[in-house]
Amino acid sequence: MRVYVVDSYGELSAKAALIVAGQVAFKADSVLGLCTGSTPVGMYKELSAMHQKQGLDFSRVITFNLDEYYGLAPDNIQSYHYFMKKNLFDHVNIKQENIHIPDGLAADIDAECDRYEEAIQKAGGIDLQVLGIGRNGHIGFNEPAAKFSAATFLTELDEDTIKANARFFASPGEVPTCAITMGIKTIMQAKKILLLANGPEKAEAVRNAVKGDIDPYVPASILQLHSDCTFIIDREAAKYL
Ligand code: PGA
Repeated sequence: MRVYVVDSYGELSAKAALIVAGQVAFKADSVLGLCTGSTPVGMYKELSAMHQKQGLDFSRVITFNLDEYYGLAPDNIQSYHYFMKKNLFDHVNIKQENIHIPDGLAADIDAECDRYEEAIQKAGGIDLQVLGIGRNGHIGFNEPAAKFSAATFLTELDEDTIKANARFFASPGEVPTCAITMGIKTIMQAKKILLLANGPEKAEAVRNAVKGDIDPYVPASILQLHSDCTFIIDREAAKYL
């Protein structure tokens, strides 16, 4: 595990975008695993600018998002479908058919999870997976007490996650309580992993993930076992390292 500590959110976003752009430049048909939340917004802005100003080409890129809220339609403004459109896909030349996000409205959840796993395999596996980290150490929606052997599945959200994500909703009661998420096994199968974290509220989770025991109660700690994992974190998130 490599840990880079940077001075600002701007530097974190620029460095993360350079890593993703490098992956795409190196392999035009890269399979990218993408995340949502506040953390990657700056990286997506940088990538959009790289496309618009420098011609970074997404025409052959394939993407798989980590997760989607259960019960939200793609055009719901709280959905991760909508988030990705607004923050990245509307600004780059990615093909619609190359975008994959779990279907939060799937009637047959098990079939949807199997379909998602199969699509990842069929694409050749994820070349680079970008992750955020929850205050509780979650990655994707693999909440504390995570099953390390899990593939894509329907999970209940942790109380702390509902509280943290309530800032995006009118009230905490509106936050969906379940989501479809890639499992830890899916994430660990990515060839490279890039985790981003900023701000003091992530410091404890980052310390536990980097320096603690590998523990299902700190799902991100499993990343210690990945052979090509990079953390980019700002000084505040690094304060307990
Ligand atoms: P955030 O979410 O980027 O909004 O802090 C990260 C996460 O919960 O994984």
